[in-house]
Amino acid sequence: MSAGKAKKSFWEMDELRIVSGAMVILGGATALMVAMPYVLLKNIEPPAGLKPYTSVQLTGRQVYIANGCIYCHSQQPRDIKQAPDAARGWGRASVAADYAYDTPHLLGTMRTGPDLFNIGARQPSKDWHLGHLYQPRAYTPGSIMPSYPYFFEVRKGVAKPGETAITLPPALTKPGEVVIAKPEVLALVNYLIGLDHTYIPLPALATPNAAQAATKP
Ligand code: HEC
Repeated sequence: MSAGKAKKSFWEMDELRIVSGAMVILGGATALMVAMPYVLLKNIEPPAGLKPYTSVQLTGRQVYIANGCIYCHSQQPRDIKQAPDAARGWGRASVAADYAYDTPHLLGTMRTGPDLFNIGARQPSKDWHLGHLYQPRAYTPGSIMPSYPYFFEVRKGVAKPGETAITLPPALTKPGEVVIAKPEVLALVNYLIGLDHTYIPLPALATPNAAQAATKP
């Protein structure tokens, strides 16, 4: 034991310093990114113009989640200072209160397709949505959005009572054949048409934001 190292004190031990440093950073990050936003946002009331989802719309929302629409579509138009989203027809910049009924929120991170926060105001036609989901390229030539054939049943004959046969462009219609929309896609379209945040969210926002809101996209 002649040349042995002297025992290090607590703060001289590298492992402990690394672990304590990591804890401080993690604690700081949690306070900044979890605790602070929670405190700031927990008392936000839904705006008067925002309606809670109906049960059919909530089912449609689940279909939206299950089919990965969120991977290509955002639901968060940005402020005019950050991006020309309003000029693209996507509506005013969203505010926290707009998401009061969204659990989980479906902000999205990618925009392979257009933002859908106001798709109900922009495209209120149920027939258009059903046909577009059946075959996007029949409505938007060159579209890279996938078609969703499993939302529909194609068969000979006519629709039975209670079924919804969709109206397709002539190029997709075959004589004697009907395309029936399944309940899940009817719920999805109900949800899409309900996505309309063109109200003015908060009186305090009587700013350029509100002016954008007043102009329907
Ligand atoms: C691979 C990416 C991708 C996926 C996944 C995707 N989309 Fe799209 N979507 C697009 C693109 C690109 C467009 C623009 C071209 C077009 O209209 O087809 C679009 C357009 C749309 C539009 C019309 C938007 C407008 O402003 O006119 C709607 C509505 C829509 N998608 C809904 C959906 C729904 C609902 C799902 C899930 C079932 C979905 N999309 C999945 C890429 C995608």
